Amino acid sequence: MKLESGFDVDRIRKDFPILGKKINGKALVYLDSAATSQKPIQVIKAVTDYYENYNSNIHRGVYKIAEDATEGYVNSKKLAAKFINAESYRNIIYCRNATEAINVVARSWAEQNVQKGDHILITEMEHHSNIVPWQMLAKRKNAILDYAKVNGMKYLDIEDFSAKLRKKPKLVSFTHVSNVLGTINEAKELTKMAHEAGAKVLVDAAQSVPHMKVDVKEIDCDFLAFSAHKMLGPSGIGILYGKEEILEQTEPVLGGGDMIRTVDFKGSTWNELPWKFEAGTQNIEGAIGFGAAMDYLNKLGMQSIRNHEVELTKYALEKLAEKKVTAYGPGIDDMKHKAGVIAFKIEGAHPHDIAQIFDSEGIAIRAGHHCAMPLVTQIITEQAVARMSFYIYNKNEEIDKAAAAIDKVRQILQINS
Ligand SMILES: Cc1ncc(COP(=O)(O)O)c(C=O)c1O
Repeated sequence: MKLESGFDVDRIRKDFPILGKKINGKALVYLDSAATSQKPIQVIKAVTDYYENYNSNIHRGVYKIAEDATEGYVNSKKLAAKFINAESYRNIIYCRNATEAINVVARSWAEQNVQKGDHILITEMEHHSNIVPWQMLAKRKNAILDYAKVNGMKYLDIEDFSAKLRKKPKLVSFTHVSNVLGTINEAKELTKMAHEAGAKVLVDAAQSVPHMKVDVKEIDCDFLAFSAHKMLGPSGIGILYGKEEILEQTEPVLGGGDMIRTVDFKGSTWNELPWKFEAGTQNIEGAIGFGAAMDYLNKLGMQSIRNHEVELTKYALEKLAEKKVTAYGPGIDDMKHKAGVIAFKIEGAHPHDIAQIFDSEGIAIRAGHHCAMPLVTQIITEQAVARMSFYIYNKNEEIDKAAAAIDKVRQILQINS
């Protein structure tokens, strides 16, 4: 099926072995890519090819397979730099995931620059990954953590953000795309405002980099974090981008092999960027698989991916409206600010029951607080919500199946619509 966006979803689906699986006797419908994406055969093969043909440690051996492994690892970093339009691979630090990338900033730059009484500004729509490290830092430093408000369960309240910037925070961090509301924040504008207030800026791009063109030069953020597993890559590899002059001035968090230039009994000096921040043997196969994932996405084109997801999301929002189901976040009238993530509520049905009934139809969705408890419990004021999220391999027929599953939920739970 070729969509209006020119996307050949049926062809793409052939690359994903898992999509041929049957769940409870039904074809798997995977609508949980915001949690993690599925992997194409090209990524799976890149990882097994490394293990089968050139498994060895990087930066050490002078023999052929070690050189190949080093080349694969460095090429992956070069691709990652290009993917987000960073100046060079020197700006790209590999960690375990977006969470660790944010924690690295909290434990390095922020640890060294945030003092007692300083403010840190985040928002009410953050994932726990972008809340807890700042709560921990604030506790360690006796600093003050502020939260910019969310308006009408949809958007960041810019007036409140502005007002909180007047407290001159040392660091501002916000999610580019909310993993619950699907809201796309204006990263460039928010970064400019934060810079004018004298803050450094960290963008949590875990839900944006996989789905749209993200350009760190255009946004002008100081740091940006995302995870490979949400963009067709393996688990256990995350990316921290940092501006070079800031990374140069920042002390590393972990010490050990590879991150040093010299070591003697009195002390050590640090390796050049980005290796200074990568102590010990890294996730080499993860980096190589991630390289294959970026190749795959580049071939499709990030704008085409975004167009495809806009079409899917619009279609899903229409279906949900027809079924009189509440969808949270920006609506069909503002697709510019809506990503392919829809948290929804079927009146009278518990989200976990919804997820279970969907599963009986072979449809994988997520229910819970989505690691955003403050947003879900305080702003949406629910204990849990159901969520469907889309990626390159989803198609309208799958949304039709989800719509039919909504009828089944109401039928089983005897809810009148
Ligand atoms: C907005 C956002 N930030 C951060 C994360 C954390 O990603 P990871 O678990 O890969 O570290 C997620 C994961 O769902 C997310 O949605």
